[in-house]
Amino acid sequence: MTTLLTPLNNPVFIPLRNRIVMSAMSRGFAGEGNMATTEMRDYYKRRADAGAGLILTEGTIIHKSGSGWNDAPFIATDTQADSWRPVVDAVHDAGGAVACQLWHMGRISHSDYTGDAPVSSTNRAAGGVNRQNNKHYGEPRALRIDEMPTVYGYFADAARRALAVGFDAVELHLASGYLPDQFLDANVNDRTDAYGGPVENRCRFVLELVEQVLKVAPAERVMARISPSRFMGGLYEWPEVDAMLDYLLPALEGLGLKTLDISCANSDYFQTSGKIIRKVRSLWSGVILGGASLTVDQAEAELEAGLVDLVTWGRAFIANPDLVTKIERGAEWVPFEDSMRGTLI
Ligand SMILES: Cc1cc2nc3c(=O)[nH]c(=O)nc-3n(C[C@H](O)[C@H](O)[C@H](O)COP(=O)(O)O)c2cc1C
Repeated sequence: MTTLLTPLNNPVFIPLRNRIVMSAMSRGFAGEGNMATTEMRDYYKRRADAGAGLILTEGTIIHKSGSGWNDAPFIATDTQADSWRPVVDAVHDAGGAVACQLWHMGRISHSDYTGDAPVSSTNRAAGGVNRQNNKHYGEPRALRIDEMPTVYGYFADAARRALAVGFDAVELHLASGYLPDQFLDANVNDRTDAYGGPVENRCRFVLELVEQVLKVAPAERVMARISPSRFMGGLYEWPEVDAMLDYLLPALEGLGLKTLDISCANSDYFQTSGKIIRKVRSLWSGVILGGASLTVDQAEAELEAGLVDLVTWGRAFIANPDLVTKIERGAEWVPFEDSMRGTLI
């Protein structure tokens, strides 16, 4: 029987001491030069000391053109990558594993962050106000085809840097409406070239990106997060979600990708990620991470049914640095409160 405390020993992924994963969560506490700080080290160390199997870092910006979040950490230079070494070492010393989430925000940004116009699949700005600078999202510029390899290179370079400083793996953030998802999502992607229109075209950017990353990083150390179904003020799904998954997943497996993380913010797992995971499992022979505010019983049931291999928790890990100890002992969890966003406890 597979439980949350069963180690993961799957030849296609890094070995883990249990199935409990801390989800990527942007906290906005990076220091001077967008470096990882001692406080960030201690925050991740507390979760590893209490037994987290795998920690996903907060979204970490791969290049200035992909930034858009106040005080997010970067991994755009070797110096920024080096600032992560104490985090990596602390997690390893505690017996845990840690993966760096690689992030390019595309049009969910503003020239306040990117300097030049943010880039996207489209020239159309995202609707609404950016909570990061309280302005409307910036007018993006649609990437030209000849610029795309440079962006793939940002991801590949960041992956190489992350592995060089000791991260066990990297997670490509292909989800939640950020740059790669701006290509996948037919509601955003209005291109008429080979990167827009039919399903195959909308998947092209992501497939080319993954292909380039897999040239510099071994497949068992690369994960990708997708969010075909999510909450965006209401339940939301990619248009043609079945056709997208039927094409995208075998194509990703064909490139050699082995591990998918399916989760999304602020939503009922069973209406979003959990529903999609039920479709994905039959199309994906590799490792699946999934979760969102599950109870221990629900998580164990998802594991036991073979729907997921690893269970992610986000906010519960902010509220409970010792979440794994609490799971081991059956102790009660502290509920997450919005005020907890303001400190790195
Ligand atoms: C404060 C906060 C920051 C987040 N930042 C990220 C992020 O940087 N990258 C990402 O993929 N998801 C991010 N998420 C989404 C979480 O990884 C997770 O999918 C979501 O919170 C649902 O899980 P939960 O219900 O267990 O919190 C964030 C969520 C929260 C609450």
